[in-house]
Amino acid sequence: MVSLKAVRAHNTSLKALSPNLVAVFVGGTSGIGLSTAREFVRNTQSPHVYLIGRNSSEASRIISELQTLNSSSKLSFIQSDTSLLKNVDVACEEIKSKESKVNLLFMTIGQMTTQGYNPTSEGLDKKLTLHYYARTRFTTNLLPLLTSAAQSSDANARLSRVVSVLDPKLGRNDIPNFSDLALKNGTFSLKSCATHASAMISFSHEHLAAAYPGTAFVHSYPSGVPTNISRDLGPVLKGVFAVAKPLLNHWMVPLVESGERHLYASTAPEFAPRNLTKDVEHVARGGDEVSGSGAYVLNWDDEVLGESKKAEGVRKDGAVDKVWRHTEEVFGKVQSEGKY
Ligand SMILES: NC(=O)c1ccc[n+]([C@@H]2O[C@H](COP(=O)([O-])OP(=O)(O)OC[C@H]3O[C@@H](n4cnc5c(N)ncnc54)[C@H](OP(=O)(O)O)[C@@H]3O)[C@@H](O)[C@H]2O)c1
Repeated sequence: MVSLKAVRAHNTSLKALSPNLVAVFVGGTSGIGLSTAREFVRNTQSPHVYLIGRNSSEASRIISELQTLNSSSKLSFIQSDTSLLKNVDVACEEIKSKESKVNLLFMTIGQMTTQGYNPTSEGLDKKLTLHYYARTRFTTNLLPLLTSAAQSSDANARLSRVVSVLDPKLGRNDIPNFSDLALKNGTFSLKSCATHASAMISFSHEHLAAAYPGTAFVHSYPSGVPTNISRDLGPVLKGVFAVAKPLLNHWMVPLVESGERHLYASTAPEFAPRNLTKDVEHVARGGDEVSGSGAYVLNWDDEVLGESKKAEGVRKDGAVDKVWRHTEEVFGKVQSEGKY
Protein backbone atom coordinates (compact mmCIF):
# COMPACT_ATOMS: atom_id res chain seq x y z
CA MET A 1 0.00 0.00 0.00
CA VAL A 2 1.26 3.47 -0.83
CA SER A 3 0.57 5.57 2.27
CA LEU A 4 -1.73 8.55 1.91
CA LYS A 5 1.12 10.67 3.28
CA ALA A 6 3.39 9.55 0.41
CA VAL A 7 0.57 10.12 -2.10
CA ARG A 8 0.06 13.67 -0.83
CA ALA A 9 3.79 14.46 -0.78
CA HIS A 10 4.09 13.27 -4.40
CA ASN A 11 1.02 15.21 -5.53
CA THR A 12 2.32 18.42 -3.95
CA SER A 13 5.61 17.94 -5.83
CA LEU A 14 3.76 18.14 -9.18
CA LYS A 15 4.01 21.95 -8.92
CA ALA A 16 7.63 21.44 -10.04
CA LEU A 17 6.47 20.10 -13.42
CA SER A 18 6.35 22.56 -16.29
CA PRO A 19 3.20 24.64 -16.71
CA ASN A 20 0.48 24.03 -19.31
CA LEU A 21 0.07 20.27 -18.92
CA VAL A 22 -3.02 19.09 -20.82
CA ALA A 23 -5.37 16.52 -19.26
CA VAL A 24 -8.55 14.99 -20.67
CA PHE A 25 -11.06 13.57 -18.18
CA VAL A 26 -13.54 11.35 -19.99
CA GLY A 27 -16.23 11.13 -17.31
CA GLY A 28 -15.00 14.27 -15.55
CA THR A 29 -18.44 15.55 -14.59
CA SER A 30 -18.89 13.23 -11.61
CA GLY A 31 -17.34 10.82 -9.13
CA ILE A 32 -13.76 9.57 -9.42
CA GLY A 33 -13.10 11.45 -12.68
CA LEU A 34 -14.16 14.76 -11.16
CA SER A 35 -12.34 14.11 -7.89
CA THR A 36 -9.10 13.35 -9.79
CA ALA A 37 -9.56 16.39 -12.08
CA ARG A 38 -9.93 18.54 -8.96
CA GLU A 39 -6.62 17.23 -7.55
CA PHE A 40 -4.91 17.70 -10.94
CA VAL A 41 -6.06 21.34 -11.08
CA ARG A 42 -5.08 21.95 -7.45
CA ASN A 43 -1.56 20.54 -7.83
CA THR A 44 -0.32 21.69 -11.26
CA GLN A 45 0.65 25.01 -12.81
CA SER A 46 -1.64 26.54 -15.46
CA PRO A 47 -3.16 23.18 -16.46
CA HIS A 48 -5.54 22.85 -19.39
CA VAL A 49 -8.27 20.41 -18.44
CA TYR A 50 -10.97 18.98 -20.68
CA LEU A 51 -14.04 17.49 -18.99
CA ILE A 52 -16.12 15.17 -21.16
CA GLY A 53 -19.64 14.04 -20.27
CA ARG A 54 -23.30 14.70 -21.04
CA ASN A 55 -24.34 16.94 -18.14
CA SER A 56 -23.65 20.54 -19.20
CA SER A 57 -25.21 22.24 -16.16
CA GLU A 58 -23.05 20.17 -13.81
CA ALA A 59 -20.03 20.93 -16.01
CA SER A 60 -20.65 24.71 -15.70
CA ARG A 61 -20.83 24.43 -11.93
CA ILE A 62 -17.61 22.36 -11.84
CA ILE A 63 -15.74 24.74 -14.13
CA SER A 64 -16.52 27.70 -11.82
CA GLU A 65 -15.39 25.68 -8.82
CA LEU A 66 -12.13 24.52 -10.42
CA GLN A 67 -11.37 28.03 -11.69
CA THR A 68 -11.60 29.27 -8.10
CA LEU A 69 -9.29 26.47 -6.95
CA ASN A 70 -6.57 27.46 -9.44
CA SER A 71 -7.06 30.75 -11.28
CA SER A 72 -4.26 29.89 -13.74
CA SER A 73 -6.17 26.82 -14.99
CA LYS A 74 -7.95 26.67 -18.33
CA LEU A 75 -11.09 24.51 -18.28
CA SER A 76 -13.11 23.25 -21.21
CA PHE A 77 -16.21 21.07 -21.39
CA ILE A 78 -17.05 18.85 -24.34
CA GLN A 79 -20.63 17.62 -24.22
CA SER A 80 -20.83 14.18 -25.73
CA ASP A 81 -22.71 10.92 -25.37
CA THR A 82 -19.67 8.69 -25.63
CA SER A 83 -21.65 5.47 -25.89
CA LEU A 84 -21.35 6.03 -29.66
CA LEU A 85 -17.89 5.74 -31.22
CA LYS A 86 -18.76 8.35 -33.85
CA ASN A 87 -19.30 10.84 -31.00
CA VAL A 88 -15.96 9.86 -29.48
CA ASP A 89 -14.33 10.69 -32.82
CA VAL A 90 -15.99 14.14 -32.89
CA ALA A 91 -14.86 14.93 -29.32
CA CYS A 92 -11.30 13.86 -30.16
CA GLU A 93 -11.28 16.00 -33.33
CA GLU A 94 -12.17 19.02 -31.18
CA ILE A 95 -9.24 18.33 -28.85
CA LYS A 96 -6.87 17.68 -31.78
CA SER A 97 -7.87 20.98 -33.39
CA LYS A 98 -6.92 22.88 -30.24
CA GLU A 99 -3.97 21.02 -28.71
CA SER A 100 -0.59 19.84 -29.92
CA LYS A 101 -0.15 17.41 -27.00
CA VAL A 102 -2.05 15.53 -24.29
CA ASN A 103 -0.22 14.59 -21.08
CA LEU A 104 -2.97 12.63 -19.36
CA LEU A 105 -6.02 10.78 -20.65
CA PHE A 106 -8.10 9.74 -17.61
CA MET A 107 -11.22 7.64 -18.23
CA THR A 108 -14.09 6.75 -15.91
CA ILE A 109 -17.15 6.69 -18.20
CA GLY A 110 -19.50 3.94 -17.21
CA GLN A 111 -22.78 2.95 -15.73
CA MET A 112 -24.14 0.61 -13.10
CA THR A 113 -27.19 -1.09 -14.49
CA THR A 114 -28.96 -4.40 -14.17
CA GLN A 115 -30.17 -4.13 -17.76
CA GLY A 116 -29.20 -6.97 -20.10
CA TYR A 117 -27.78 -6.70 -23.61
CA ASN A 118 -28.55 -3.16 -24.83
CA PRO A 119 -27.10 -2.51 -28.28
CA THR A 120 -26.51 1.05 -29.49
CA SER A 121 -27.20 2.11 -33.08
CA GLU A 122 -23.59 1.00 -33.76
CA GLY A 123 -24.45 -2.58 -32.79
CA LEU A 124 -22.38 -2.71 -29.59
CA ASP A 125 -23.70 -3.16 -26.07
CA LYS A 126 -23.89 0.28 -24.39
CA LYS A 127 -22.24 -0.70 -21.11
CA LEU A 128 -19.45 -2.66 -22.82
CA THR A 129 -18.89 0.34 -25.09
CA LEU A 130 -18.61 2.82 -22.21
CA HIS A 131 -16.31 0.51 -20.29
CA TYR A 132 -14.11 -0.67 -23.17
CA TYR A 133 -14.68 0.34 -26.81
CA ALA A 134 -15.20 4.10 -26.26
CA ARG A 135 -12.27 4.32 -23.84
CA THR A 136 -10.01 2.51 -26.32
CA ARG A 137 -11.23 4.70 -29.16
CA PHE A 138 -10.32 7.83 -27.13
CA THR A 139 -6.92 6.24 -26.54
CA THR A 140 -6.14 5.39 -30.17
CA ASN A 141 -7.44 8.77 -31.40
CA LEU A 142 -5.37 10.72 -28.88
CA LEU A 143 -2.20 8.61 -29.01
CA PRO A 144 -0.54 10.98 -31.51
CA LEU A 145 -0.98 13.82 -28.97
CA LEU A 146 0.15 11.61 -26.08
CA THR A 147 3.23 10.69 -28.14
CA SER A 148 3.92 14.39 -28.76
CA ALA A 149 3.89 14.96 -25.00
CA ALA A 150 6.29 12.03 -24.50
CA GLN A 151 8.69 13.55 -27.05
CA SER A 152 8.81 17.00 -25.46
CA SER A 153 12.29 18.57 -25.35
CA ASP A 154 11.41 19.65 -21.78
CA ALA A 155 11.92 16.69 -19.40
CA ASN A 156 9.45 18.27 -16.95
CA ALA A 157 6.65 18.18 -19.51
CA ARG A 158 7.08 14.58 -20.69
CA LEU A 159 4.19 13.11 -18.72
CA SER A 160 2.30 10.84 -21.13
CA ARG A 161 -0.19 8.51 -19.46
CA VAL A 162 -3.51 6.78 -20.04
CA VAL A 163 -5.51 5.76 -16.96
CA SER A 164 -8.67 3.68 -17.14
CA VAL A 165 -10.64 3.16 -13.92
CA LEU A 166 -12.77 0.00 -13.85
CA ASP A 167 -11.84 -3.26 -12.16
CA PRO A 168 -8.82 -5.27 -13.34
CA LYS A 169 -9.60 -8.10 -10.87
CA LEU A 170 -12.67 -9.21 -12.82
CA GLY A 171 -10.71 -9.90 -15.99
CA ARG A 172 -7.93 -11.67 -14.09
CA ASN A 173 -10.15 -14.01 -12.13
CA ASP A 174 -12.25 -15.16 -15.06
CA ILE A 175 -11.62 -16.10 -18.69
CA PRO A 176 -13.23 -14.07 -21.48
CA ASN A 177 -15.01 -15.84 -24.32
CA PHE A 178 -12.55 -15.15 -27.14
CA SER A 179 -14.96 -16.39 -29.78
CA ASP A 180 -17.52 -13.68 -28.84
CA LEU A 181 -15.59 -10.78 -27.33
CA ALA A 182 -18.35 -8.27 -28.18
CA LEU A 183 -20.93 -10.57 -26.50
CA LYS A 184 -23.25 -10.34 -29.51
CA ASN A 185 -23.97 -14.03 -30.00
CA GLY A 186 -26.19 -14.74 -27.03
CA THR A 187 -23.37 -14.91 -24.48
CA PHE A 188 -24.11 -11.56 -22.81
CA SER A 189 -24.63 -11.49 -19.05
CA LEU A 190 -23.78 -8.81 -16.50
CA LYS A 191 -20.91 -11.02 -15.36
CA SER A 192 -19.54 -11.66 -18.86
CA CYS A 193 -19.85 -7.94 -19.67
CA ALA A 194 -17.80 -7.07 -16.58
CA THR A 195 -15.18 -9.78 -17.30
CA HIS A 196 -14.82 -8.79 -20.96
CA ALA A 197 -14.48 -5.05 -20.33
CA SER A 198 -11.93 -5.65 -17.59
CA ALA A 199 -9.83 -8.19 -19.50
CA MET A 200 -9.95 -6.21 -22.74
CA ILE A 201 -8.72 -3.03 -21.00
CA SER A 202 -5.77 -4.86 -19.43
CA PHE A 203 -4.75 -6.83 -22.55
CA SER A 204 -5.20 -3.85 -24.89
CA HIS A 205 -2.98 -1.79 -22.55
CA GLU A 206 -0.28 -4.45 -22.89
CA HIS A 207 -0.50 -4.21 -26.69
CA LEU A 208 -0.42 -0.39 -26.64
CA ALA A 209 2.44 -0.15 -24.12
CA ALA A 210 4.60 -2.18 -26.51
CA ALA A 211 3.52 -0.21 -29.58
CA TYR A 212 3.82 3.23 -27.89
CA PRO A 213 6.79 2.94 -25.49
CA GLY A 214 6.71 6.66 -24.62
CA THR A 215 3.27 6.37 -22.99
CA ALA A 216 2.35 4.50 -19.81
CA PHE A 217 -0.99 2.73 -19.36
CA VAL A 218 -2.73 2.12 -16.01
CA HIS A 219 -5.85 0.07 -15.29
CA SER A 220 -7.01 0.72 -11.74
CA TYR A 221 -9.55 -0.71 -9.32
CA PRO A 222 -11.03 2.10 -7.18
CA SER A 223 -12.69 -0.15 -4.55
CA GLY A 224 -16.06 1.13 -3.32
CA VAL A 225 -16.20 4.91 -3.62
CA PRO A 226 -19.31 6.96 -2.72
CA THR A 227 -20.29 8.50 -6.08
CA ASN A 228 -23.37 8.79 -8.29
CA ILE A 229 -22.64 5.48 -10.02
CA SER A 230 -26.01 3.98 -8.96
CA ARG A 231 -28.01 6.68 -10.80
CA ASP A 232 -29.07 4.32 -13.62
CA LEU A 233 -30.44 1.62 -11.31
CA GLY A 234 -34.21 1.11 -11.06
CA PRO A 235 -36.11 2.78 -8.18
CA VAL A 236 -36.05 -0.31 -5.93
CA LEU A 237 -32.29 -0.90 -6.14
CA LYS A 238 -31.68 2.84 -5.91
CA GLY A 239 -33.66 2.86 -2.65
CA VAL A 240 -31.66 -0.10 -1.31
CA PHE A 241 -28.45 1.73 -2.23
CA ALA A 242 -29.59 4.95 -0.54
CA VAL A 243 -30.39 3.08 2.68
CA ALA A 244 -27.16 1.07 2.62
CA LYS A 245 -24.91 4.01 1.68
CA PRO A 246 -24.34 5.40 5.20
CA LEU A 247 -23.45 1.89 6.40
CA LEU A 248 -21.24 1.14 3.39
CA ASN A 249 -19.45 4.49 3.68
CA HIS A 250 -17.51 3.06 6.58
CA TRP A 251 -15.80 0.52 4.27
CA MET A 252 -15.54 2.78 1.26
CA VAL A 253 -12.61 4.86 0.05
CA PRO A 254 -13.57 8.52 0.57
CA LEU A 255 -14.11 10.35 -2.72
CA VAL A 256 -11.36 12.93 -2.03
CA GLU A 257 -8.85 10.19 -1.18
CA SER A 258 -9.78 8.32 -4.36
CA GLY A 259 -9.03 11.48 -6.37
CA GLU A 260 -5.70 11.94 -4.58
CA ARG A 261 -4.74 8.30 -5.16
CA HIS A 262 -5.74 8.43 -8.80
CA LEU A 263 -3.67 11.58 -9.33
CA TYR A 264 -0.75 9.57 -7.93
CA ALA A 265 -1.52 6.69 -10.33
CA SER A 266 -1.66 9.28 -13.14
CA THR A 267 1.70 10.86 -12.45
CA ALA A 268 4.01 8.79 -10.18
CA PRO A 269 7.34 7.91 -11.88
CA GLU A 270 7.18 4.27 -10.71
CA PHE A 271 4.51 3.68 -13.38
CA ALA A 272 6.86 4.81 -16.12
CA PRO A 273 6.42 4.23 -19.83
CA ARG A 274 8.59 1.47 -21.24
CA ASN A 275 11.26 3.75 -22.69
CA LEU A 276 11.77 5.77 -19.48
CA THR A 277 12.24 2.95 -16.99
CA LYS A 278 16.03 3.36 -16.91
CA ASP A 279 15.52 6.83 -15.37
CA VAL A 280 13.37 5.48 -12.50
CA GLU A 281 14.84 4.12 -9.28
CA HIS A 282 11.96 1.80 -8.31
CA VAL A 283 9.89 0.99 -11.37
CA ALA A 284 6.70 -1.00 -10.76
CA ARG A 285 5.90 -4.49 -12.05
CA GLY A 286 3.58 -4.50 -15.03
CA GLY A 287 0.35 -6.50 -15.30
CA ASP A 288 2.34 -9.26 -17.02
CA GLU A 289 4.82 -9.34 -14.09
CA VAL A 290 7.55 -7.67 -16.18
CA SER A 291 9.17 -4.73 -14.37
CA GLY A 292 8.56 -1.46 -16.23
CA SER A 293 6.43 -3.08 -18.95
CA GLY A 294 4.52 0.22 -19.34
CA ALA A 295 1.10 -1.41 -18.65
CA TYR A 296 0.28 -1.43 -14.95
CA VAL A 297 -2.63 -2.90 -13.01
CA LEU A 298 -3.32 -1.20 -9.69
CA ASN A 299 -5.43 -1.78 -6.63
CA TRP A 300 -7.33 1.10 -4.95
CA ASP A 301 -4.27 1.88 -2.76
CA ASP A 302 -1.87 2.29 -5.74
CA GLU A 303 -0.31 -1.11 -5.02
CA VAL A 304 0.39 -3.29 -8.07
CA LEU A 305 -1.97 -6.27 -8.39
CA GLY A 306 -0.23 -9.61 -8.86
CA GLU A 307 -0.74 -11.86 -11.88
CA SER A 308 -3.48 -14.49 -11.80
CA LYS A 309 -3.07 -18.03 -13.14
CA LYS A 310 -6.05 -17.50 -15.46
CA ALA A 311 -4.68 -14.28 -16.99
CA GLU A 312 -1.25 -15.88 -17.34
CA GLY A 313 -2.79 -18.86 -19.13
CA VAL A 314 -4.79 -16.86 -21.66
CA ARG A 315 -1.87 -14.49 -22.26
CA LYS A 316 0.24 -17.51 -23.24
CA ASP A 317 -2.54 -18.43 -25.68
CA GLY A 318 -2.29 -15.04 -27.41
CA ALA A 319 -4.89 -13.00 -25.49
CA VAL A 320 -3.15 -9.69 -26.20
CA ASP A 321 -3.18 -10.21 -29.99
CA LYS A 322 -6.71 -11.65 -29.98
CA VAL A 323 -8.09 -8.64 -28.09
CA TRP A 324 -6.26 -6.18 -30.29
CA ARG A 325 -7.33 -7.85 -33.56
CA HIS A 326 -10.94 -7.82 -32.32
CA THR A 327 -10.72 -4.14 -31.35
CA GLU A 328 -9.36 -3.18 -34.77
CA GLU A 329 -12.08 -5.21 -36.46
CA VAL A 330 -14.81 -3.44 -34.43
CA PHE A 331 -13.35 0.01 -35.09
CA GLY A 332 -12.90 -0.75 -38.79
CA LYS A 333 -16.48 -1.98 -39.22
CA VAL A 334 -18.06 0.88 -37.28
CA GLN A 335 -16.01 3.37 -39.29
CA SER A 336 -16.75 1.85 -42.70
CA GLU A 337 -20.30 0.52 -42.21
CA GLY A 338 -21.52 2.56 -39.20
CA LYS A 339 -22.22 -0.66 -37.31
CA TYR A 340 -20.49 -3.77 -35.95
N1 LIG B 1 -17.74 4.09 -7.47
C1 LIG B 1 -17.42 2.84 -7.23
O1 LIG B 1 -17.61 2.33 -6.11
C2 LIG B 1 -16.82 1.97 -8.31
C3 LIG B 1 -16.37 0.69 -7.98
C4 LIG B 1 -15.79 -0.11 -8.96
C5 LIG B 1 -15.67 0.37 -10.26
N2 LIG B 1 -16.13 1.63 -10.56
C6 LIG B 1 -16.01 2.09 -11.95
O2 LIG B 1 -15.27 3.29 -11.98
C7 LIG B 1 -15.76 4.14 -13.03
C8 LIG B 1 -16.08 5.51 -12.46
O3 LIG B 1 -17.09 5.38 -11.49
P1 LIG B 1 -17.71 6.62 -10.70
O4 LIG B 1 -18.15 6.05 -9.43
O5 LIG B 1 -16.79 7.77 -10.75
O6 LIG B 1 -19.00 6.92 -11.60
P2 LIG B 1 -19.91 8.22 -11.77
O7 LIG B 1 -19.81 9.13 -10.60
O8 LIG B 1 -21.25 7.72 -12.15
O9 LIG B 1 -19.22 8.95 -13.03
C9 LIG B 1 -19.37 8.41 -14.32
C10 LIG B 1 -18.99 9.47 -15.35
O10 LIG B 1 -19.25 8.90 -16.62
C11 LIG B 1 -19.97 9.82 -17.42
N3 LIG B 1 -20.83 9.10 -18.35
C12 LIG B 1 -21.66 8.06 -18.09
N4 LIG B 1 -22.32 7.70 -19.20
C13 LIG B 1 -21.89 8.52 -20.20
C14 LIG B 1 -22.20 8.67 -21.57
N5 LIG B 1 -23.10 7.88 -22.19
N6 LIG B 1 -21.55 9.63 -22.27
C15 LIG B 1 -20.65 10.44 -21.68
N7 LIG B 1 -20.32 10.37 -20.38
C16 LIG B 1 -20.93 9.42 -19.65
C17 LIG B 1 -20.79 10.65 -16.43
O11 LIG B 1 -21.01 11.94 -16.98
P3 LIG B 1 -22.45 12.55 -17.40
O12 LIG B 1 -23.41 12.17 -16.34
O13 LIG B 1 -22.16 14.02 -17.50
O14 LIG B 1 -22.74 11.95 -18.72
C18 LIG B 1 -19.81 10.75 -15.25
O15 LIG B 1 -18.94 11.86 -15.44
C19 LIG B 1 -16.98 3.44 -13.61
O16 LIG B 1 -16.62 2.79 -14.79
C20 LIG B 1 -17.35 2.42 -12.55
O17 LIG B 1 -17.95 1.26 -13.13
C21 LIG B 1 -16.69 2.43 -9.61
